[in-house]
Amino acid sequence: MDSILVTGNGPLNGQIPIAGAKNACLTLMPATLLSEEPLTLTNAPRLSDIKTMTLLLQSLGAEVSSLQDGQVLAMSSHDLTSHVADYDIVRKMRASNLVLGPMLARLGQAVVSLPGGCAIGARPMDLHIHGLEALGAEIELKDGYLHAKAPKGLKGAVVELSFASVGATENIMMAATLAKGTTVIKNAAREPEIVDLADCLRKMGAQIEGDGSPDITIQGVDRLHGATHQVVTDRIELGTYMLAPAICGGEVELLGGRRSLLESFCAKLEAAGIEITENENSLTVCRKNGRVRAVDVVTEPFPGFPTDLQAQMMALMCTAEGTSVLEEKIFENRFMHAPELVRMGAEIEVHGGHATVTGVEKLKGAPVMATDLRASVSLILAGMAAEGETKVSRVYHLDRGYEHVVRKLSGVGAKIERIKEQS
Ligand code: UD1
Repeated sequence: MDSILVTGNGPLNGQIPIAGAKNACLTLMPATLLSEEPLTLTNAPRLSDIKTMTLLLQSLGAEVSSLQDGQVLAMSSHDLTSHVADYDIVRKMRASNLVLGPMLARLGQAVVSLPGGCAIGARPMDLHIHGLEALGAEIELKDGYLHAKAPKGLKGAVVELSFASVGATENIMMAATLAKGTTVIKNAAREPEIVDLADCLRKMGAQIEGDGSPDITIQGVDRLHGATHQVVTDRIELGTYMLAPAICGGEVELLGGRRSLLESFCAKLEAAGIEITENENSLTVCRKNGRVRAVDVVTEPFPGFPTDLQAQMMALMCTAEGTSVLEEKIFENRFMHAPELVRMGAEIEVHGGHATVTGVEKLKGAPVMATDLRASVSLILAGMAAEGETKVSRVYHLDRGYEHVVRKLSGVGAKIERIKEQS
């Protein structure tokens, strides 16, 4: 298993290009199942999660070709041959559950294993099931698989989500595009990836309004056609690399970055003393002198502070002046990076959904272990600001969500290398 070796060093300078969003791409890819005609995605990120979704779609009979070094995905679901999403693929990644809605809408049946993914909480699928049942699907759980049927097709309905789940909103929205009549999703998720999916579905002929607000209205159509769509910028990769100069000092330009993708995160960085400038097609982040200030953070659905940046923000707070409280409101088990950061000299106390971080002047390099995708990159950020060497093991988590991480960070002056090891 490979590991990453980071040696703490001084200020960073230069540019980092930001890729297309993993989480958008993972919901745009299953949208191909909704149409017999080709769907092409540009600006796709080169990640192992995208390969996993490719394998899943191929196992259902879709054709998926990766072109232009992986940045273009050409897909066709003309002849689907299976409606079963197998455990062996689904267990690797929770987003596999996003084939459920499209398959049900197109084929009238779907069998999908309950998903795996990062071990950051229970992550049930009750909201997906409730929403699809409201559209007329019959769903039962047998042997770890959800068996869903809609023999007479899906019918539009009002679906009120008790929590603004991203995945449930996506699954219900995709299914509703081919349902008869009108569907209204109330308390829908508002993440930029939802808007990106709606944009793509509209290009395919879907009638959707209100995406980006809590009420999404979908008028079902008989069929969807082919389209080409550019994947939105990855706001989590953007936020992660904005934290690199915030932690190490220096000035870094994030190419493709937009403030509107991360407003609440930007406001917290500024409160901590970081300068952010929005340019025509990039963001410049600068930390000149002294330590950052401690700020409190509460994770919330968009437009709140993203849970997917909580671990990385904690790495920054570890060296801030003062004490900060980070409250995790989305996932109940998302502080697994805290004990690893403590191994590097951080002062963190976790009580339930709160972590209290008292900043220290300097972290110290140590061998640490990545426990999930965002935790792994928080340890790299911490290592970049620490004295000496930090070896982060189990970096396969990182490969799920960050393309060319070593190249991107060493390009702005970080001392980082990947060590290939025999498993
Ligand atoms: C997506 C993102 C993930 C991000 C999360 C929250 C993708 C591929 N992944 O995950 O990176 O961290 O949004 O921004 O887009 N829940 C239920 N029942 C359900 C569904 C969800 O209780 O049926 C709970 C989950 O356990 C969790 C919370 O709702 O506590 C948020 O989950 P959700 O918004 O659905 O996240 P995902 O779509 O899985």
